[in-house]
Amino acid sequence: MNTVEFIINGKMVRAVRDECIMKIARENGIPIDGLCYSPELESAGGSCRLCLVEVHEKGKMRVVTSCNYPVRDNIEVKTDTPFIKKIKRNIIELLMAKVPESEVIREIAAREGIEKSRYKHIEFDQPLNKCISCGLCTQVCAEIVGVSAISMINRSYEKTAHTPFKKESAVCIGCGACAYICPTHAIEMKDRDNTRVIWGREFVMQRCKECGIPYIPEAQVSWIVETTGKDRNFFEKCPDCR
Ligand code: SF4
Ligand code: FES
Repeated sequence: MNTVEFIINGKMVRAVRDECIMKIARENGIPIDGLCYSPELESAGGSCRLCLVEVHEKGKMRVVTSCNYPVRDNIEVKTDTPFIKKIKRNIIELLMAKVPESEVIREIAAREGIEKSRYKHIEFDQPLNKCISCGLCTQVCAEIVGVSAISMINRSYEKTAHTPFKKESAVCIGCGACAYICPTHAIEMKDRDNTRVIWGREFVMQRCKECGIPYIPEAQVSWIVETTGKDRNFFEKCPDCR
């Protein structure tokens, strides 16, 4: 295994070459905020900008997003300098203005001692009022689920996730992976009796033959059976009763 050694906040650490700084920092007990990083998703990261750190190398300093910057021999990483704190404060205030209803952003702000944003909230036709346009939901839908029922729409400040033309998606299977991964809980998913509603579409849930709990959308079962050849009978019982 190709390993490297570098310094982070004054501590020498060893890591696998090309791992991202954020992962190694967290493994070494150094917390770095970040809402758009997921180790399971290849294309995740680089959008929320909350994870900025200083990288010092050969007498030069660069500010980089630690969730997608690879560790290298002999670099020195600083995560909490006054300069980083100042930039991060600005990013948090921008996010507070963009999604004032997000509890997650408010928690991060409170931790940094920020009570209110200097920026004004701009109203626009935003169906997901807590969306920070990180793209995790569209990435999990495309890369892990393999369905691509949602995509990023609009640009700049108004960029957000949605189904094509904001209409019911014909290919959505109601699995809810997008809602689970969303860092700000922007995507509404309601399970009631044997029905799930997500992205404006209703899905019938299959009940477990053993305990009777509705536990998976029928559309998701059909999709798994069709794409993997798995036996449909496997889904008769929920994971707890299998
Ligand atoms: S809905 Fe959530 S996961 Fe999707 S882009 Fe917005 S914040 Fe990210
Ligand atoms: S976690 Fe790095 S930019 Fe969002």
